[in-house]
Amino acid sequence: MRLQRIGIAVALVFGLWAVAWAQQMGATATLKPTTGNTAEGTVTFAQKGDKVSVTANLSGLSPGPHGFHIHEKGDCSSGDGMSAGGHFNPTGKPHGDPTTPDHHTGDMPQLVADAGGKATLTADLNPMTIGASANDIIGKAVIVHKDPDDFKTQPTGNSGARVACGVIAKS
Ligand code: CU
Ligand code: ZN
Repeated sequence: MRLQRIGIAVALVFGLWAVAWAQQMGATATLKPTTGNTAEGTVTFAQKGDKVSVTANLSGLSPGPHGFHIHEKGDCSSGDGMSAGGHFNPTGKPHGDPTTPDHHTGDMPQLVADAGGKATLTADLNPMTIGASANDIIGKAVIVHKDPDDFKTQPTGNSGARVACGVIAKS
């Protein structure tokens, strides 16, 4: 009886540890406006099998679609967001729609703001990962652009100025 109770207690502790470990496979970026802009918000990432589930909540945008990417350098210090470098592209692919086979690892669906300047988005994307691969997004930057992404112009999608920037950190 006593041994059984110890066994149950040990199983419980391991179970809780496993849950805590699984919850660590998440990441967050807090986006701040670049100089002269008002866009801000939070983007969270959770590993979900071979995909990463992205959830974005932004405000302070102009109404309509905005280019939305992960950029290669986790550096938002320049004021205009240019310090974040180009799109995160460890696999050497062309820029494109993330729902098609050929696209940068950092390419994400457009962020579409409502009349009040708020935008929410959820999408399950690959080949990005949280940790443990060349496609690891930890330490990279999330950028929101002023204009829509045409998913054609190389290598940027022609989405114009960078209006918000945030570094992705493990959460
Ligand atoms: Cu971008
Ligand atoms: Zn791209």
